[in-house]
Amino acid sequence: MMDDYTLPFWIYLGVLTVFVGGAMKKILASHLSTASTLVAWLGATVLLERLWVFCLPAMLLLALLGLACCLYSAARTGSPPATLPAQGKAVLITGCDSGFGNATAKRLDALGFEVFATVLDLSGDGARELQRTCSPHLTLLQVDITQPQQVQQALLDTKAKLGLKGLWGLVNNAGVCVHFGDAELSLMSNFRGCMEVNFFGTLNITKSFLPLVRQAKGRIVTISSPAGDQPFPCLAAYGASKAALNLFMNTLQHELEPWGVQVSIILPSAYKTGQSSNHAYWEQQHRQLLQSLCPGLLEEYGEDYVTETKELFQSHASKANPNLSPVVDTIIQALLSPQPQARYFAGPGVGFMYFIHTYCPFSISNRFLQKLFVKKKLMPRALRKQSSFDLNLSLHNNNNNNKEKLKEL
Ligand SMILES: *[C@@H]1O[C@H](CO)[C@@H](O)[C@H](O)[C@H]1NC(C)=O
Ligand SMILES: *[C@@H]1O[C@H](CO)[C@@H](O)[C@H](O)[C@H]1NC(C)=O
Repeated sequence: MMDDYTLPFWIYLGVLTVFVGGAMKKILASHLSTASTLVAWLGATVLLERLWVFCLPAMLLLALLGLACCLYSAARTGSPPATLPAQGKAVLITGCDSGFGNATAKRLDALGFEVFATVLDLSGDGARELQRTCSPHLTLLQVDITQPQQVQQALLDTKAKLGLKGLWGLVNNAGVCVHFGDAELSLMSNFRGCMEVNFFGTLNITKSFLPLVRQAKGRIVTISSPAGDQPFPCLAAYGASKAALNLFMNTLQHELEPWGVQVSIILPSAYKTGQSSNHAYWEQQHRQLLQSLCPGLLEEYGEDYVTETKELFQSHASKANPNLSPVVDTIIQALLSPQPQARYFAGPGVGFMYFIHTYCPFSISNRFLQKLFVKKKLMPRALRKQSSFDLNLSLHNNNNNNKEKLKEL
């Protein structure tokens, strides 16, 4: 009796796993709006499978599944993923002085978008290069997103050019990482600086341009960071601002659904952008930190500890990926896919990082993040003294204990 059951049982279990796994993957990657239909589909699949168990031989089921897989893969490779046309669509992208912004503005322009590229410095290298290499459809706007008057002016300029047309895409790319280091050693100005640009700046520009985006039933695409979801060592200030940004965008995502506006967050791995590989910038930040830290704190952590952190970060930044195209491709996908995802992982290893974070205990995922990012060798100075003191003490105690034991013997 048991033997009769075994083979079909395993086959059914296998088929069920494939279906359920596929559905789960879809649900996790999909837009919130489609989650309920996917859950319904999943329920129907399970029900159907239960029915099959009663009326279909296992081998036939396997053959059908095989056929379905072949058809599916043929359909997938046969037609490339459909994308919407770029022609006639206007996109505003912030932070185009360098990095993702500079590279994306160029690509958007080459694809035929009407591009509004905001830069901090109109006479800087990035702005001049965009002006030189792009079509006349690209408009440069000077905007510091922390200055509401400049945001307002950019809105007026954009409206003047768009006429009655709405804005298809708002790409929130501008962001900063002011400083880097242990949370206790990070100045309040660092926390506020990150919040001011990454959160409040993006909030203000998003609120300002949202009426235009709603008009076009367009897209909001925001470059965030895995540091907003996971506790990367030494990135508390930057991570907290990105966490606030992620929550805001996730809320917008379902609030704007009735308006037909779709919201995506892009989560890149480590890339060479902005100041990240600017050696002089980090040296200057380091000197400034040493001057502004309260002497007691510096004494307890030790200057060598602070310096090691800076060096570890610099070496990490120097190994970051200089090829930004995975992120640029993802931004284009979020702008032009008929069904954009709520979250995109851009670059190697980000999916794996989230997998570890989601399914492993904290002790393991934290160690993984340290290994990946900055692996400190030095302890804070006060702990170094402490631990050698403890060690001496315990050796001493052990000796005493041993002596006492000997005496007892
Ligand atoms: C802008 O991007 C191009 C490549 O697309 C790169 O060659 C150039 O150095 C970038 N400029 C700045 C200022 O980052
Ligand atoms: C942007 O911020 C400024 C200053 O806080 C505020 O006056 C303005 O109304 C904000 N814009 C929007 C659209 O809320």
